[in-house]
Amino acid sequence: MIILALETSCDETSAALLKTEDSRFKVLSNVISSQVKIHEKWGGVVPNLAKREHQKNLPLVLEEALFKVKNEKIDLLAVTVGPGLEPCLWVGINYAKELAAKMNLPLVPVNHIEGHILANFLGKKQKNIFPAVCLVVSGGHTQLIFMTGIGKYKLLGETRDDAAGECFDKIAKILNLGYPGGPIIAQKAEEWKAKGEDRKFNMTLPRPMMHTKDYDFSFSGLKTAVLYEFKKRDPKIRKSSQYIKEICFEAQQSIIDVLIKKTIKAAKDYSVKTIIMGGGVSANKELREQLEERSRKEGFNFLVPPLGLCTDNAVMVAIAAYFHRHQAKKTGWQDLAADANLRI
Ligand code: KG4
Ligand code: ZN
Repeated sequence: MIILALETSCDETSAALLKTEDSRFKVLSNVISSQVKIHEKWGGVVPNLAKREHQKNLPLVLEEALFKVKNEKIDLLAVTVGPGLEPCLWVGINYAKELAAKMNLPLVPVNHIEGHILANFLGKKQKNIFPAVCLVVSGGHTQLIFMTGIGKYKLLGETRDDAAGECFDKIAKILNLGYPGGPIIAQKAEEWKAKGEDRKFNMTLPRPMMHTKDYDFSFSGLKTAVLYEFKKRDPKIRKSSQYIKEICFEAQQSIIDVLIKKTIKAAKDYSVKTIIMGGGVSANKELREQLEERSRKEGFNFLVPPLGLCTDNAVMVAIAAYFHRHQAKKTGWQDLAADANLRI
């Protein structure tokens, strides 16, 4: 079976073709057009600008994705229907409906969060994985989900304010580092660590909600703590690269400490076999390494997508569509609508 998937929920326009044979996947094409340059100067994604860019880019992205597989017959279409920015979601949905009509193909609606989780199942046997706890960390979401099988999820907890990725982005904005903040902060933190620097600036940032009994998170206080720490410094220090690297390291480690603590707690409380991570922030090298190490030490398997499938992409949408392929007929694609707040 060959699945053509579209993803336009935020600021990445993506189309992918995935071939499946006996539950084995082969990515035939995965084209992603990022709008980072456009949103950079606003310090975040501007929904209507993003919509316009999706409209412009989607036909080109699709053409490129299809170019690589000229002689293959497509069997199934898939599109992200939520959660995400509503105007952006509609671009992908309307385009997918047009394709479904033109090509006379079934269309599967995909939940973006489930896509991030199922990005882990490219080439993975599903044996001995469940039950699992999933940590979804993206620009819009930070959730802990108990998973007993594909399609079987129970939300355990989530952020009460900012998402982990949003926290990276807002901290980078405070420090005048650009957008998106995650990769830039990770880079600065890495440079600080690689140099084996001593702590010079005597800063301690909070680990919000780290010891609470629930599975919720809160990251807005950390962002505010960074703002106060930064504002109290002499302008000369604020501009020093040593200071910026140290605060990046400390802020990143605060986020990682909280994520790991709550994830391990959920994994133990629910006696799971596996810890699964997904979403843009799971591209963070330190988080990947530290969560993997803790997971293994505590006796859990650990899954994280390959780097290229952590941030938004249409391959994950195609994988999710494969597992839910039977929903295509039931749903009736004419009724598909965007749901900006779709829950798992
Ligand atoms: O999943 P994603 O691509 O889009 C949403 O669904 O939101 O996640 C984007 C988020 C951004 O906040 C970005 O700063 C963060 O993922 N991110 C990272 C890294 N790469 C992307 N955060 C930390 N470290 C990274 N290496
Ligand atoms: Zn995402």
